[in-house]
Amino acid sequence: MSTLKVAVVVGSTRRESINRKLAEALVRLGGDRVSAQFVRIDDLPMYSIDLEQEHPEAVLRFDQEIAGADAVLVVTPEFNRSLPAVLKNAIDWGSRAKPQSVWRGKVAAITGTSPGAIGTAVAQQHLRQILGVLGSLVMGGEAYISFKPDLIDENGDFTNESTRDFLQAYMDTFLTVAEKLKAPAPAVLAA
Ligand code: FNR
Repeated sequence: MSTLKVAVVVGSTRRESINRKLAEALVRLGGDRVSAQFVRIDDLPMYSIDLEQEHPEAVLRFDQEIAGADAVLVVTPEFNRSLPAVLKNAIDWGSRAKPQSVWRGKVAAITGTSPGAIGTAVAQQHLRQILGVLGSLVMGGEAYISFKPDLIDENGDFTNESTRDFLQAYMDTFLTVAEKLKAPAPAVLAA
C-alpha cells in the first residue's frame, strides 16, 4: 500500500494554535500510512473577483497543494459559532481554481478543538455543509475535541487512552476511505 498524500489545513494562524497541535498529533496517529503536508493559508489575499484574471502566486501554490493531495484533513477552531474567515477565504479561493475547483471529489475529514464544551461542533457543521456543496467527499462521523492543557503531551501524543483510541479509529477510518477512493495510477505508469 503506497503512502497517502494528505494535505492538512489548519484553520488557525495563531503561533501557539491548539488546532495545529491537534493536527500534528493526528498525523502521528496516521503513522507511515501518511505523508502529510501542512498547507499555508495565512498568506492568501482576501478573495476578490478583481483578482480572478491572474491568480496570485500564493493562491496557485495553495491550489496545487490541495489538488495534488489524495485527501484533505481540516482541523479548525470555531470563531463565533462558525469557521474562521481565514479558512473560508482559502476554501473560496480553492473553489475558483482553474481548470476546476480543488474541492470537487476530494476526500476530506473535518475535526477541531476549542476550550469550550462543544469543541467546535457548530464550526464543523458549517464546514461540512460548505465542502459538501463543493462536492468534497466528507467523511461521516464526528470528532469534537474539547481542549484541555494536558490533552497532548510534549511528545505530541494524546495522554488519555480513550481519547487516543477514539481518534485512532477516526484516523484509521479516514485513511481507509481515502485509500479506497484513491485513483489508481494509469496502467502505463503502474509498475
Ligand atoms: C473564539 N473562541 C471560540 N471558541 C468556541 O468554542 N466557540 C466559539 O464560537 C468561539 N468564538 C471565538 C471567536 C473569536 C474571534 C476568537 C478569537 C476565539 C475561542 C477559541 O476556541 C480559542 O481562541 C482557540 O484557542 C482558538 O484555536 P487556536 O487558534 O488556538 O487553534
